[in-house]
Amino acid sequence: MARNPRFDVLFDPVRIGPVTAPNRFYQVPHASGMTNALPHVRASFREIKAEGGWGVVCTGAVSIHPSSDDSPLPFASLWDDRDIRAHALMTDAVHKHGALAGVELWHGGACTLNRTSRIAPLSPSGMPWLSTHLGFMGNLRPRTMDASDIAALLQWQADGARRAMSAGFDIVYVYAGMGYLPYEFLLPEYNQRSDAYGGSIANRVRLVRELLEVTRDAVGDKCAVALRISLEELRARPGQNGISEAHEVVALLADMPDLWDVKMDSSPTDCAPSRFSPEGSHEPVIDFVKRVTTKPVVGVGRFTSPDVMVSQIKRGVLDLIGGARPSIADPFLPNKINEGREHEIRECIGCNICISSWHDGVPVRCTQNPTAGEEWRRDWHPERFSPPASAASVLVVGAGPAGLEAAVTLARRGYPVTIADKATEFGGRLRFETRLPGLATWGRVVDWRMGQLRDRPNASLYPGSELVADDILGLEHTHVVIATGSRWTKLLYGANEFPVDPIEAPGIYTPDDLAGGVVPAGPVVVFDFDNYYLGGAVAEHLAKLGSEVTYVTPAGSASAWTLMTNELPLIHRALAKARVTIRTLRRVAAFGGGTITLADVFSGARQQFDCASLVIVGVRKPHDELYEELIALGPDLKKAGIASVTRIGDALAPGAIVHAVHSGHRYARELESTPGTAPYKRDFPA
Ligand SMILES: Cc1cc2nc3c(=O)[nH]c(=O)nc-3n(C[C@H](O)[C@H](O)[C@H](O)COP(=O)(O)O)c2cc1C
Ligand code: SF4
Repeated sequence: MARNPRFDVLFDPVRIGPVTAPNRFYQVPHASGMTNALPHVRASFREIKAEGGWGVVCTGAVSIHPSSDDSPLPFASLWDDRDIRAHALMTDAVHKHGALAGVELWHGGACTLNRTSRIAPLSPSGMPWLSTHLGFMGNLRPRTMDASDIAALLQWQADGARRAMSAGFDIVYVYAGMGYLPYEFLLPEYNQRSDAYGGSIANRVRLVRELLEVTRDAVGDKCAVALRISLEELRARPGQNGISEAHEVVALLADMPDLWDVKMDSSPTDCAPSRFSPEGSHEPVIDFVKRVTTKPVVGVGRFTSPDVMVSQIKRGVLDLIGGARPSIADPFLPNKINEGREHEIRECIGCNICISSWHDGVPVRCTQNPTAGEEWRRDWHPERFSPPASAASVLVVGAGPAGLEAAVTLARRGYPVTIADKATEFGGRLRFETRLPGLATWGRVVDWRMGQLRDRPNASLYPGSELVADDILGLEHTHVVIATGSRWTKLLYGANEFPVDPIEAPGIYTPDDLAGGVVPAGPVVVFDFDNYYLGGAVAEHLAKLGSEVTYVTPAGSASAWTLMTNELPLIHRALAKARVTIRTLRRVAAFGGGTITLADVFSGARQQFDCASLVIVGVRKPHDELYEELIALGPDLKKAGIASVTRIGDALAPGAIVHAVHSGHRYARELESTPGTAPYKRDFPA
């Protein structure tokens, strides 16, 4: 198909100092969690994006010295020449497709706790970053840098830039964002110095200026020098000579970098979850930059709509469309627009499971794109599939995230596939969950897969079709996949942190009851020990329906695991706004007769109050009766021509949507393949 001329502007080349980006699609620096220890995994992950049309593909933050040591979080390094080879694998892979490779040189300052190197963290004035995120918390406070430390930092940046050039990078960054060292010099709370690097805004900018100068000296005219900078906090501060300190900083450095890469200051606002921020949410903070500099500007905002991208360019907000998550969710986004297939873009849902992977210390995972991180080790290409090994056909029972992904991937491989669900609408748990506050965008998981299935002649869709074992025996499919999901239980949370016996009394519900249309009478307690998004979302939903809602959890905060996805602070704000009372560190000890009794998880102290309904968001169990019935048929299966019956997704092991999609994808990729001795190839340092 031909490209829509409306989107032509997105394919203009853009000059960035001495190099030229072939188009305006720019994968901004984002960590992959793969580190230098998995160089082939990392090179393939980045290469696929270049192949998919991203004109620039960057690394994540790359540490320039052991005093910037983020362990146990996974980070890359260019500490000495031995690190060059690992990065060269990536630049070679990116260059094969005509894209530019960028590297974000990084010093974390007071934000890195140097747990492995055991070097006292560096900072402008000894002020710590007081994180409440367990992964970032530490007890060692930073020390104040003196003049020799600043000289050493400039040398590390210059050495890092030279190594980056040797590794083949085209764009070399100075990174002054997100609480890291050069950013700390910009803010007076961190920077209380009385020397030439503190006080006035011109002095606070001095370190960034010098970092740009030494980088330029190191790379000459071979590489472009980019500045990535967070402007949110600076924009909120009135300037002495300009509208804000952000305006002043950009004006002071205006044409020094070859490229401005502008972003927000904290992960929850920068990598904003879709529950609380729309596409393009950075614009009010960064919209002025292009008016102050003549150099190209790249910015982000979970851009997946080509019309929104064109509007950013035509309105003079950005020159290059930055993407981190959209490039993970669909590495082929640019090519799809270029080929007039924009309706096929697998849009990021803004769930931030990718960010949680980094917090977990593992290679990046994506809800929408199960091939992310699997390109090399499992040989999964997002757009290429091995053809069927036989004339087998497949029946998928259950059209939730796992079943839909299995069916789409089987169909893309070329198998005749039939997918059936007893519900009249496909989507499984997402049919209910996307109606909860803020979760509509997650419906893209279903929408993209339905779009793919509807377009394929080898896929047959049967909504409203409840199948029992006897039906399946008569349907003459070679392989049967059970993707019937899971059910929420009424198990409670015990004093020893084990689930304890289900509680039975009138007025007790699970999310499945709510999905079935039950509206619990108020006052309601939502008891959440699932700890992900659902408990908080259900509490907000019921409060918005008009109930008096108390949210109770044995954890220390509401939806406690969402700390990993940047959603936690925003969920707390949303619950407060909806007037939900939050009681943390409590478990439900008794319920009935219009009252509920809570017990403090540490002291056991009890507390009783009026409560008409209890909604338990705790433990799920597989909904796998159909699987068990089929397996019990033994030889009758073979007689009916059924070679295999397999459970996937929640029907195998209840998890988040990311797990269900991966499970469905893996089943479809591996069907009729020769099993290897290991589930995936192991990578080793280069
Ligand atoms: C998994 C992940 C890792 C990230 N790591 C970095 C990083 O190493 N350096 C950086 O400057 N920004 C990092 N970011 C932030 C992104 O570059 C980007 O600013 C943010 O995700 C918003 O862009 P988007 O809406 O296109 O995702 C990361 C984002 C994600 C999703
Ligand atoms: S994990 Fe979620 S937020 Fe991250 S890229 Fe994938 S769909 Fe987007």
